[in-house]
Amino acid sequence: TSGPRTLLALNWKMNKTTTEARAWGRELAGGFERGDVEVAVMAPAISLPGLKESLPGGVDVGGQDVSAHESGAYTGEISAAMLRDVHATYVIVGHSERREYHGETDAVVAAKARQAQAHGLTPIVCVGEGLEVRERGEQVAYTLAQLRGSLDGVAENVVVAYEPVWAIGTGKTATADDAEELAAAIRGALREQYGELAAGLRVLYGGSVKPDNVASICAQPNVNGALVGGASLKVDDVLGMVNAL
Ligand code: G3P
Repeated sequence: TSGPRTLLALNWKMNKTTTEARAWGRELAGGFERGDVEVAVMAPAISLPGLKESLPGGVDVGGQDVSAHESGAYTGEISAAMLRDVHATYVIVGHSERREYHGETDAVVAAKARQAQAHGLTPIVCVGEGLEVRERGEQVAYTLAQLRGSLDGVAENVVVAYEPVWAIGTGKTATADDAEELAAAIRGALREQYGELAAGLRVLYGGSVKPDNVASICAQPNVNGALVGGASLKVDDVLGMVNAL
């Protein structure tokens, strides 16, 4: 893929203690040779302090969610300023698990993305259809509607991740063609919103990405990297993906 540098974004979800996270960072540092690929680790917020220092140079860290609010009486939430303070450069917003289990709407997702940007974080905005929508063949219209709502008022410092819900953690990967269909449609929507800057923005694919399929998916013209769940947990799998790219 020409255009922006490939991003391999690792979403650990609710896995690893802080002790395990740091050990993982040191293990990665032992085998990682920095190439053309940008790697970012989206760790549980509690494990972010000190994580970047344990990782190989150039590997970024980020959060998995952020509050839409600046500060104050929001028990249990983590603010964008707090993430920034522990060296996060990215934060995932609107992951399908947040949408499904925590009722996050497109408007909430957009507010979180704006709040992240206000503190210098790059939001990774997730969109993607469920199985019923895919079976009706309505994945493009559904995903673009979700994207437009989720990017309301959001500036161009943004990454979009297309994650079809039926492919997450199921071992079913979208084909490279399916991924490209949606990535191209997303690029078109980004062009409507950001004009020529859209060519430089990253559109990721997520859903059962692993060492043996990452290269073919990321080779698609509109796919600029991957958002990886299960295969992000083991250093060997991560090195396998980096080396495949
Ligand atoms: O955010 C990454 C994701 O939801 C995909 O998970 O386990 O299918 O790679 P997985």
